[in-house]
Amino acid sequence: MILRSFREGTSMTAVIEARGLVKHYGDVVALDGFDLSVEKGTVVGLLGPNGAGKTTVVSILTTLLIPDRGTATVDGLDVFTSAHDVRSRIGLSGQYAAVDEHLTGFENLDMIGRLYHLGKAKARTRSRELLEQFDLVESGDRPVKTYSGGMRRRLDLAGALVAQPPILFLDEPTTGLDPRSRIQLWEVIRNLVTQGTTLLLTTQYLEEADQLADDIIVIDHGREIAHGTSDELKTQVGGERIAITVRAGTDLGSAAALLRPHANDEIHIDKRSRSLSAPITGGAATLTAVIRSFDTAKIEIRDVGIRRPTLDDVFLALTGHTSDYGDSGEHDETQETR
Ligand SMILES: Nc1ncnc2c1ncn2[C@@H]1O[C@H](COP(=O)(O)OP(=O)(O)OP(=O)(O)O)[C@@H](O)[C@H]1O
Ligand SMILES: [Mg+2]
Repeated sequence: MILRSFREGTSMTAVIEARGLVKHYGDVVALDGFDLSVEKGTVVGLLGPNGAGKTTVVSILTTLLIPDRGTATVDGLDVFTSAHDVRSRIGLSGQYAAVDEHLTGFENLDMIGRLYHLGKAKARTRSRELLEQFDLVESGDRPVKTYSGGMRRRLDLAGALVAQPPILFLDEPTTGLDPRSRIQLWEVIRNLVTQGTTLLLTTQYLEEADQLADDIIVIDHGREIAHGTSDELKTQVGGERIAITVRAGTDLGSAAALLRPHANDEIHIDKRSRSLSAPITGGAATLTAVIRSFDTAKIEIRDVGIRRPTLDDVFLALTGHTSDYGDSGEHDETQETR
């Protein structure tokens, strides 16, 4: 619905393209008319909560699943009638690591290299290179059954890169990775994109979409609910927000009541961090007025400022509820309508 015109007329150079995808599982509507277009050398982030339909989109585009309706092409090839050729051009790292437990990390990668006909020497070199890149050198010669979840995840990602495919699908690539590994993977992804790789990435992490994606599609209930760059989505939600943190023991209801006359829309309250935020206009003048009213009411402010919206705010504005992605550290949130 949002910024669709921004996309129109771009399909000529799209490397990944889907139109009107519909997929039902019995009564469950996994996809409900989903469109997608990824230009060469760009990253599109599919952002949505559990059950939104992200994996279903990836499975269809990687030839693993046939939709009830709709069309899809990858590198100009029909995903359904030219599945074999499509597979030779893509790399996939699925949501759940698909690695062989009984082989070592090296053997897993080497095997993929052989399957892709890299040749013995090249497969070996490439495997060692990737073990290095994914911080698995020390464990590379151990069976995967001794690996931690994060190590398996990294090995699976490395596996998707063995054949240096020009088109990559990564389904929640950093779920389960520690912060350091996540940042390392972002670096790897940025380098690939610099070298011309086209990437469709799904994520539950707003920050990840913000960091990596040129274009973000917010998906919920099998439909696109918003689309644009991170900046465009944030601008869409409105301009500035005031954010106030109050002292422990403060009645948040009274604080919200003081803020309400200045707020343009819902006031967002996070009980745990004792912070309130709301869209405002008027910049510094409004900020001063709010501080004055809190001062008069003797409500102590710990921190206050004006900030641009985050993708969290975008999600709140679009769906009427906060994201339940859990990466912002914010829980126990409530909203208050004016
Ligand atoms: N094989 C299946 N059988 C029945 N229902 C399914 C199947 N696969 C997916 N679904 C349903 O389709 C919907 C979309 O699922 P999908 O796996 O695409 O979501 P997702 O966005 O990837 O979620 P998550 O973030 O949890 O991975 C969900 O309601 C899910 O329960
Ligand atoms: Mg999924």
